Amino acid sequence: MHSMLFTSAALAVLPMFFLSSAAHSNHSYADPCSAIAGGIFAAPVDMLACLRSFPFNETLRQNVMQTVSGVFDFYTFEDFYLDSPPPFQESTTDIRAELTRITAQQYDTDYDFNLDLYNFVNRLNDGHTQWTPNCYATWENLLPTPVVSLEVNGTQGVYIAPDSVGFIDLVPPGFTSFYESIHFDWQRLAGAKVLQIEGMDPYDYVDLIADTVSGNFLDHGVRVNSVFSGYRLSGDSFSQRFGDLAGRLFSPDLNVTFTLIPVNCSRPENVTVPFLATFMGNSFTDSESYWTNNCAANSGTNGVDKRVSSNLLSQATRRTRLQPVGAARKPADGIGLPAPFQPTLPPTVVSADVMRSYLLPDGQTGVLFVGSFDDDIDQFQIDASTAITTLKAAGATRLLIDLTNNLGGFICLGFFLHQYLAGSSFGYPGFDSAIRANPLAQKIVAADIAQDLSEDLSFYVPDQYAFLNNTILPADFDYVSPAVTVTINGQPDPTSRRFHDVCSFSVPIPDYPPFNLSNVAIVNNGNCASTCAMFSTLMNERHNTTIAVFGGKPGENVEFKGMAGNQVLEWTDLDSEIKTAGLKDDPLAPPDLLVSANMRHNWRTAYSYLDESEPIAYVSELPKLRFPYTLDTYNNPQNVWIFTAQQIFG
Ligand SMILES: *[C@@H]1O[C@H](CO)[C@@H](O)[C@H](O)[C@H]1NC(C)=O
Ligand SMILES: *[C@@H]1O[C@H](CO)[C@@H](O)[C@H](O)[C@H]1NC(C)=O
Ligand SMILES: *[C@@H]1O[C@H](CO)[C@@H](O)[C@H](O)[C@H]1NC(C)=O
Ligand SMILES: *[C@@H]1O[C@H](CO)[C@@H](O)[C@H](O)[C@H]1NC(C)=O
Ligand SMILES: *[C@@H]1O[C@H](CO)[C@@H](O)[C@H](O)[C@H]1NC(C)=O
Ligand SMILES: *[C@@H]1O[C@H](CO)[C@@H](O)[C@H](O)[C@H]1NC(C)=O
Ligand SMILES: *[C@@H]1O[C@H](CO)[C@@H](O)[C@H](O)[C@H]1NC(C)=O
Ligand SMILES: *[C@@H]1O[C@H](CO)[C@@H](O)[C@H](O)[C@H]1NC(C)=O
Ligand SMILES: *[C@@H]1O[C@H](CO)[C@@H](O)[C@H](O)[C@H]1NC(C)=O
Repeated sequence: MHSMLFTSAALAVLPMFFLSSAAHSNHSYADPCSAIAGGIFAAPVDMLACLRSFPFNETLRQNVMQTVSGVFDFYTFEDFYLDSPPPFQESTTDIRAELTRITAQQYDTDYDFNLDLYNFVNRLNDGHTQWTPNCYATWENLLPTPVVSLEVNGTQGVYIAPDSVGFIDLVPPGFTSFYESIHFDWQRLAGAKVLQIEGMDPYDYVDLIADTVSGNFLDHGVRVNSVFSGYRLSGDSFSQRFGDLAGRLFSPDLNVTFTLIPVNCSRPENVTVPFLATFMGNSFTDSESYWTNNCAANSGTNGVDKRVSSNLLSQATRRTRLQPVGAARKPADGIGLPAPFQPTLPPTVVSADVMRSYLLPDGQTGVLFVGSFDDDIDQFQIDASTAITTLKAAGATRLLIDLTNNLGGFICLGFFLHQYLAGSSFGYPGFDSAIRANPLAQKIVAADIAQDLSEDLSFYVPDQYAFLNNTILPADFDYVSPAVTVTINGQPDPTSRRFHDVCSFSVPIPDYPPFNLSNVAIVNNGNCASTCAMFSTLMNERHNTTIAVFGGKPGENVEFKGMAGNQVLEWTDLDSEIKTAGLKDDPLAPPDLLVSANMRHNWRTAYSYLDESEPIAYVSELPKLRFPYTLDTYNNPQNVWIFTAQQIFG
């Protein structure tokens, strides 16, 4: 893939340019997208020239805004944003006022319109609710200088990740050769102590990125940790995130200026590090094919009427009662973790897919690293059960669960892991849940009941949920009409009755907790999304589990959970609900999107077991322990586990 390098990609298309321009006798007429075609990397100025070449189109704006506004009718947290409660107050936004502004504002290009809409939704800081135009949000700007916060000699500071050379070398070829081609020596910056970023105190700049770029998490402290680079278990391999300072989706930023002291140097210097843009979309040769392949709506953009069986064949089979939730992924988050940072202990369960287990050298602490709850439903349960059984057989009497940078997944897998650890006699652990009962939602439920739809066709069908006494709802039980009207920030918000999830498990649940629950602890960095947030909140609220959070900014809190909404519907899911109910012609139904994009939203709320009047997303629950990363523990899962086990279990 030599064409990955930006410069050679440009060379590859130049002959085409000269051929076609000869016909026009006008050598200054270049297609700005041809200039970056054929590779996966481009200089940000060249990317912007292509992306900003598409004119603003009022028809597209009105179409997008109708759909986006219609989706917000279903958004459980809309009214909370009018005055977000502390410590989440910085997300406060008048959503309808912003939608009105964006519907009327003048924009130079389609890019500028989409960037404004993207930033508004992103800054709601809810990864379950996002505007993702595939035309633009498939580009991520990367820096070869990811940052970490470390305590060195008793003082916390910001550093260029010391493992940057090993890490960046794992990025596909073309990335480092770009920096070579411009004679930029990023290798010597690895490990440098950062004194300022863009002329600001480095932690103040990190706060700025947390507020303007990160999104995803209501809690500021969790977003701060998202700015830094950190380790993950992604799929079945260890990886390292760039972090949001060094990896920015849909970003017009060209460079970042650091004032830093490189390793073994004594004098500060200013270094401006240029971004390189990475493209993860569909290939193209010029502006026209760029638009067709990446920006125009395609057969997967909108929902389908699932009553038509041929439509079902084209959809991935839905897994009954196991509703996916999860964080949006960034393309560059799957780069590997350098080998010296990977655990050296032998894993106790080798087959494990999204999890790994180890017995620590103390011979007593078992570690279960759960990378996500997004796996084959049965395999996850088999792996967790096998890991716990094997650790106990090896002598483990206590369990440390690592949830660092866990992206979430299936709600029922969070319930499963809790139930397995708590034992079969522990009843329904929580949470009560509810959806909005707006007029279109009420029509959908009524239509689903009237048609006697089966639960695999719709998330609105009643008999996949249970009353609060865990009796399954009758198939004709309308749980959204009449609505229960709650008042949020002075706004009446019609809501469904509360209901419980119904989860069935594919491995036997032990009668008694496999580990004394006072010997079970959790470690993470607060970036614990979705089902991960639900699981750790259950452990905290029901078992007072010790949770240790690493990282963050000195003097600022970090919640142990981020993105604690509940169930998400992607735009295709919501549109399919409307079409399957037979309501696409209803005046309340949003139109099909004319562009390739997704508007996902948090569709369901979960309420805190400790305070059933509050969605858990808005309940502040701090970890019992906080630790800064050090040169030993940053990006080093095994050292994190050994240190944490010593701190918690002695
Ligand atoms: C070249 O073509 C572009 C686009 O049609 C036009 O704006 C520009 O004036 C032309 N330049 C020359 C020198 O003919
Ligand atoms: C705007 O987009 C619509 C829908 O794709 C298209 O039909 C129309 O031609 C575009 N308008 C302009 C001025 O390009
Ligand atoms: C930490 O302290 C040691 C011993 O005083 C010193 O050699 C080292 O340079 C210090 N490191 C940093 C990063 O300040
Ligand atoms: C850095 O980006 C700014 C725009 O944000 C631009 O004006 C400046 O020329 C760039 N500097 C370098 C050295 O690339
Ligand atoms: C810094 O100096 C130490 C001691 O001389 C050396 O081992 C190390 O390789 C140097 N690091 C860098 C990045 O130059
Ligand atoms: C870095 O740039 C700032 C602003 O231009 C300047 O004030 C400062 O002296 C520079 N520092 C160094 C070490 O060159
Ligand atoms: C459970 O609650 C529902 C709704 O309140 C009620 O109709 C039903 O009879 C209850 N079931 C049992 C077994 O108590
Ligand atoms: C669990 O551990 C706690 C604290 O060590 C102890 O008080 C309790 O008796 C243990 N429970 C069981 C069932 O062994
Ligand atoms: C939870 O555990 C902490 C110590 O880890 C203890 O101080 C606190 O009282 C416990 N809370 C409850 C409700 O048991």
